[in-house]
Amino acid sequence: MGYDVKDLSLAEMGGNRVEWAAQGMPVLNAIKDRFSSEKPLQDVRIAACLHVTTETAVLMQALKAGGAIVHLCASNPLSTQDDVAAFLVAREEIPVFSIKGEDRDTYYRHIYQALEVKPHITMDDGADLVSTIHAEQRELLEDIIAGTEETTTGVIRLKSMATQGVLAYPIIAVNDANTKHLFDNRYGTGQSTVDGIIRATNRLLAGSTFVVAGYGWCGRGVAMRANGMGAKVIVTEVDPLRALEAVMDGYQVMTMQKAATRGDFFCTVTGDIKVLRREHFTAMKDGAVICNSGHFNVEIDLEALEEMSEEKRQIRESVEEYRLSNGKRVNVLGEGRLVNLAAAEGHPPSVMDMSFANQALAASYVTENGATLEKKVYGVPEEIDREIGRLKLAAMEVEIDQLLPEQEKYLTSWDMGT
Ligand code: ADE
Repeated sequence: MGYDVKDLSLAEMGGNRVEWAAQGMPVLNAIKDRFSSEKPLQDVRIAACLHVTTETAVLMQALKAGGAIVHLCASNPLSTQDDVAAFLVAREEIPVFSIKGEDRDTYYRHIYQALEVKPHITMDDGADLVSTIHAEQRELLEDIIAGTEETTTGVIRLKSMATQGVLAYPIIAVNDANTKHLFDNRYGTGQSTVDGIIRATNRLLAGSTFVVAGYGWCGRGVAMRANGMGAKVIVTEVDPLRALEAVMDGYQVMTMQKAATRGDFFCTVTGDIKVLRREHFTAMKDGAVICNSGHFNVEIDLEALEEMSEEKRQIRESVEEYRLSNGKRVNVLGEGRLVNLAAAEGHPPSVMDMSFANQALAASYVTENGATLEKKVYGVPEEIDREIGRLKLAAMEVEIDQLLPEQEKYLTSWDMGT
């Protein structure tokens, strides 16, 4: 079995941590148990490009229980948990190709190695498998039934491929399920981003000014949690409705140029490039801390920052201090990559439970229905989304009311007025 991980002797520690994560993933465990007996993925080959974390390991176990043959590589060079990679190889016999801190060439070599499984299904977080297949390995298209996509950035890329008529196979946008983005993007990113910032800096958020760039589901979560830690939150936006929502949620909204002079912490979560750039770095206070929680490391213009800096040094783990020619210091966390995964452990198990339940059920759905799908981006079928919501509530022992027949009738009628 081929693999490339840092150190197999880390497997035991990885196994313990995976067991711990699994305790917080009841929905995925229930799916795994059903997969074990029904084998809906028997001999289905899956290439997965995901953050190699304890939660991803539980998903890999579920897919394997369903009969799938899986190869896993990382969806970000800094997010791999090396002990988890070791555990999956040594104890689960799943070929994993990922090492925390790998360079760009190794990152892509690992993608090619994961694709050696000749997938029926691609499982992406950021669409790197889909991009690589379309650009360089089109011979693989022959066997592919469909793909799944985990994140907003990937879904945007894939929808643009579909619009341009270049998408060569159907994709299920797992991100678009309610049981994914309303929880993972908001509560997962909210908590894990603040966790990453605190682990990297050990600075106090209370009383600080915290600038959040972008008020999508992730931005809403980061703003909410920074606020909860006592920071004064400023939101920057380009969309008038989102800006208005941020105002009514109680935050200050202003341009980044203004916010740049006020922030102690800056976190980008927009999915776009150069959100923090030259003119903002110049305006920042001495010692400002900047980081990104969007999928790609493009939101902070690090090239400009390098050019403007006279000196750069690693001052703490995950913190690089840039000294600008104006004498001020700007601190970048996790090389501008996803701070929640680079400096912490990513989203907690209980939200990944729902995200990865969607992944597992989407894989089973396309295995059964792939032939009927067009080369488009589909949402997760509503029955799957609602079922995951029901299972999660049941696992949390939360009971809810049911509509009376009379109430159901009222909701579908139009003739009962005043
Ligand atoms: N994305 C964000 N958090 C994650 C996690 N814990 N595992 C896998 N992917 C993630």
